Amino acid sequence: MRSKFAIEKPIIQAPMAGITTPAFVAACCEAGALGSIGAGYLNGAETKEFIQEVKSLTKKPFSVNLFIQEEPRIDINVLQNARVALQPFYEELGIPNTQRVISTEVFDGQVQAIIDEGVKIASFTFGIPDNETIAKLKQHNVYLIGTATTVEEVAAVEKAGLDAVVVQGGEAGGHRGSFTEPVELVSTADLVKAVHGKVSIPIIAAGGIMTAEHVTEMLESGAAYVQIGTVLLTAYECEATKTHKNAILNSEQEATTITKAFTGKYARGLKNKFTEQLKEAEVAPYPIQHYLTLHIRKESANQNKPEYMSLWMGENSYLAREASVKDIIDHLYK
Ligand SMILES: Cc1cc2nc3c(=O)[nH]c(=O)nc-3n(C[C@H](O)[C@H](O)[C@H](O)COP(=O)(O)O)c2cc1C
Repeated sequence: MRSKFAIEKPIIQAPMAGITTPAFVAACCEAGALGSIGAGYLNGAETKEFIQEVKSLTKKPFSVNLFIQEEPRIDINVLQNARVALQPFYEELGIPNTQRVISTEVFDGQVQAIIDEGVKIASFTFGIPDNETIAKLKQHNVYLIGTATTVEEVAAVEKAGLDAVVVQGGEAGGHRGSFTEPVELVSTADLVKAVHGKVSIPIIAAGGIMTAEHVTEMLESGAAYVQIGTVLLTAYECEATKTHKNAILNSEQEATTITKAFTGKYARGLKNKFTEQLKEAEVAPYPIQHYLTLHIRKESANQNKPEYMSLWMGENSYLAREASVKDIIDHLYK
């Protein structure tokens, strides 16, 4: 097996773009896990500043997570249908019809921030970085972690020369890291077992890991680390909104669903009026749908209407509890 990195516990705090704050990342590092900055929505300068803040709070290693963006291509009729399906929500929340929907390319700036700040671990989701980026980061001794959701994607991540792979099972909260079709939902345990022995890079299991038993099961199945998201969202140090935390704490079994309606990419979150009403609706590809629903998500948060919000959480959200980061991590692995 190729080399691992040095952390006290085999636990990685999942990068959660838009939610992770410097204090939260540092608290995870200090608790013995690998903290991860979810930099997907930050530009280069913001990524740099975020890294500097984490460095001022901890001397322990942490990673930076980036999104691999594709050029959005769209059939104009699909765009029109996606808009029509969202119209009732715009009207209900008082959102005007004209909004900006085009994202700007920030990836190179984010990569430069990682290099300039001497960060030694980077992870990626939604795809594999291009060869030039991989070579550039490797030149600076950055350890590279890919994300995969199928056996084929794991093989592609290894072939590209990345150092480790997050194997994201169907239970996982937030976006599927998939970059090939069809999007499959295999349980984390089954995926880890299917991949174990077939790759020489360390496997990081992600999806539905909420208890010490889950951690043990993953490590015994061949994972070198586990990556945990939902179980940390209800930590005191996590700045997820109160609505988000309460939705997790009050959730019951089968409360979540997989939906493309918020962003155009499959993601797991709380089943609500929005996900159910848009179940059959045509959806624009990512990131266009993300921008089309941006104001719906913002306004519904402002107006405290959780029925229209994207409340990402994994399938085992019902096992979450409120505690400090250290307490949660200590309960997962002694
Ligand atoms: C709120 C939220 C945001 C997430 N954002 C990211 C992200 O920015 N980058 C990423 O690679 N994974 C992201 N994920 C997925 C996690 O890396 C991980 O696969 C998932 O949390 C594991 O499942 P669990 O939530 O059941 O622990 C996110 C997950 C959640 C719940």
